[in-house]
Amino acid sequence: MNTYHTNSGRLSRPLSFLFFIILFSLPAYASNSRRTENFNKEWKFNLGEIVGGQETKLDDSRWRSLTLPHDWSIEGTFSKDNPATPGGGALPGGIGWYRKSFDLPLTEKGKLVFIDFDGIYRNSEVWINGHYLGMRPYGYSSFRYELTPFLNYGKEKNVLAVKVDNSKQPNSRWYSGSGIYRNVWLVITEKIYVDHWGTYVTTPKVSEQQAHVVIHTEVRNTLARDQAFILKTSIVNAGGKEVAAFDTKQVTPKASLSKIEQRIIVKDPVLWSIKHPYLYHIRSKVISDGKEYDSYETTLGIRSFIFDAAKGFLLNGKQVKINGVCNHHDLGFLGSAINHRALERQLELMKGMGVNGIRTSHNPPAPELLDLCDRMGFIVMDEAFDMWKKKKTDFDYSLNWDEWHVRDMQDMVLRDRNHPSIFIWSIGNEVTEQYDHADSSGGVIARELCSIIRTLDGTRPITSNCNDPSPDNTILKNGSLDMIGFSYHTENYTDVPKNFPGKPFIGSETVSAVATRGSYDMPSDSIRRWPKSWDIPFTSGNADLTCSSYDNCSVPWGSTQEETWKLIKKQNFISGQYIWTGMDYLGEPTPYTWPARSSYFGILDLAGFPKDAYYLYQGEWTNKPVLHLFPHWNWKVGQTIDVWAYTNCEEVELFINGVSLGTKKKIGDALHLTWRVTYAPGSLRAVGRTSGKEVLIQEVKTAGAPAKIVLEADRNTIAADGKDLSFVTVKVLDNQGTIVPFADNLIRFNITGEGKLVGVDNGLQTSMESFKASERKIFHGLALAVIQSNEKAGKIRVQATSEGLQGSSLIINAH
Ligand code: GAL
Repeated sequence: MNTYHTNSGRLSRPLSFLFFIILFSLPAYASNSRRTENFNKEWKFNLGEIVGGQETKLDDSRWRSLTLPHDWSIEGTFSKDNPATPGGGALPGGIGWYRKSFDLPLTEKGKLVFIDFDGIYRNSEVWINGHYLGMRPYGYSSFRYELTPFLNYGKEKNVLAVKVDNSKQPNSRWYSGSGIYRNVWLVITEKIYVDHWGTYVTTPKVSEQQAHVVIHTEVRNTLARDQAFILKTSIVNAGGKEVAAFDTKQVTPKASLSKIEQRIIVKDPVLWSIKHPYLYHIRSKVISDGKEYDSYETTLGIRSFIFDAAKGFLLNGKQVKINGVCNHHDLGFLGSAINHRALERQLELMKGMGVNGIRTSHNPPAPELLDLCDRMGFIVMDEAFDMWKKKKTDFDYSLNWDEWHVRDMQDMVLRDRNHPSIFIWSIGNEVTEQYDHADSSGGVIARELCSIIRTLDGTRPITSNCNDPSPDNTILKNGSLDMIGFSYHTENYTDVPKNFPGKPFIGSETVSAVATRGSYDMPSDSIRRWPKSWDIPFTSGNADLTCSSYDNCSVPWGSTQEETWKLIKKQNFISGQYIWTGMDYLGEPTPYTWPARSSYFGILDLAGFPKDAYYLYQGEWTNKPVLHLFPHWNWKVGQTIDVWAYTNCEEVELFINGVSLGTKKKIGDALHLTWRVTYAPGSLRAVGRTSGKEVLIQEVKTAGAPAKIVLEADRNTIAADGKDLSFVTVKVLDNQGTIVPFADNLIRFNITGEGKLVGVDNGLQTSMESFKASERKIFHGLALAVIQSNEKAGKIRVQATSEGLQGSSLIINAH
């Protein structure tokens, strides 16, 4: 039986306000320590190849000015002829050049200067002042270059040039985005400093009384002399108080790396958990001759966990089912351009439905996602690759496999291993090698990747999401994985203990049900599942390419939402699942019918509006009382309609126009209630009761003609930092205030004051409208407009108008 105990993380950047307080309340040393500067501003961009784009003297004054993160694909036009194909999101790729001029004060001379890229999709090449620094093919790896030897100081400018080549497509099975789509950082240190990703923190023994914290720190000395220093390490609690500390004296020889191990005990630790994700921070200071050479922060979460073949997942000694979702990295209207608030909102929506786990399908995520998961309490499966040496699309990473996979695998673990939210490493998703019975290359590569990970981190189990669940699968067979994970194949779940004795198991990818928000195909109990044959094209069956939201539509290899949860809920040995997917995402518009350009798998649509299944899980996975009644109430008189309720109330009574249709209770393992009724316009009302007491009432009314627009901001006050977002839901109502389910009015937005519109959406998978337009059609009563602050405090006025409708406006305060 495999058991794993653990661990910790790195401080999210930028440093929190809290840390400034801490910094100034500690004993002072003359400090020249590191400076980490966000390097996103004042870039120049050119879409298209430029010969000599790296030349310092090149005139880029006519290039477009922009602030990173940036994804040029999302600004393009949808077409099935774009080489990405609809599977890749049907948006353009190409080559892009970015340049940034900057100066460095003379006072920085003698220090070390690095540039850190969190991610560039794809095939990036970087130059500083015409010197070639290197290339990285994998679009999801984070990497650093040292700039020091090539820099100018004082008046003379420096030019950083980045070429991004995403022209050879398809190279992804989903929308990738193109460009410098994650954050960039300039890091300046002294010549003796904590190395890149230079700490590794574990907590090998954790109890409520004390935690053993082991901290490995790598201090690099680039001086031309041996240097004596003290590594002062302290652990600071969430309130900013130092709770433990340890000093190590060391002499580091010139031009060398010193590896220091420190063991510290934290008494009465506050444990990190899903409900209470308590974070400590570790501060590592390099002190020499009374001077602070470096100060480096690492996030620490103290928790213990076990994956057990019989009991599933135990966190801090308590059994917990991982109720997780898989998500891709795109943020809908933003494409892949990372935005902290947009990510945070996605995770808030997930939390709201009771999700406690995220799988970073199928690649290393933006660091911010992991910082948020640390802070918000998610169980993360951090995944490396969607393919190994064998391709899935013509120009994918398989072309770079031989040269790069060791480095990319190492970099993922080095970057991420301190995050307390990471509990599982995944070395790959449904890679083709699992079927290589002749040469068992699946087993060979799996063994290699596992050994790379174990050299760097032995505190988490390693899995790989396979699609062949049999013990003959060459990856599962060779035994190098710690945990069995496969997608779908629920019929094989109960064989796992027999087929893989002693190994823990997780449904590493499940469900793949498809739905369009607000669309309903009846009868609801007839499940539309395409034939299990690759020869027959999958179609939604509906001319408008919508898929039904009654949880009665799924792919041949998957299940409905209810089918999988019914199984997993009952089986103790299953650690949990990661549902495909939490959010709809760009690309992979299964059923594969153009003009669809984004996926139907999400429990929420691309705009972040919940589909009905959201409430199924909310009722099951949260303690919140839930009563969700659907469908809408605009049908043909006399039509037979299936009414569903997701609820965790004991019983629900349904009324049409005040007349009771009886009370129902969920029987056996039923996950919803249903009534087959004859439609009459008016009101459909459900009353949820528990122990005879009314808990919730929900009413759905027949809507009249669209009459007015209503705007609702998720936050009316945002930070005036040029990044923060307010998500404004746009509703079209009739003159009684009922949302109009058939409304498809075109809404125009006008934003004035200290902010701008950065995206619009309505969640419709077939919409070819631009996410960057200043108008959007309503879909099933809703649309979304996203407003971003600029850097000036003040009011932002959002105005929405549409022909024939009463307009609406609201004010967002930026401060
Ligand atoms: C899985 C795959 C996912 C996605 C999903 C759609 O097999 O791992 O990336 O393609 O199918 O159902």
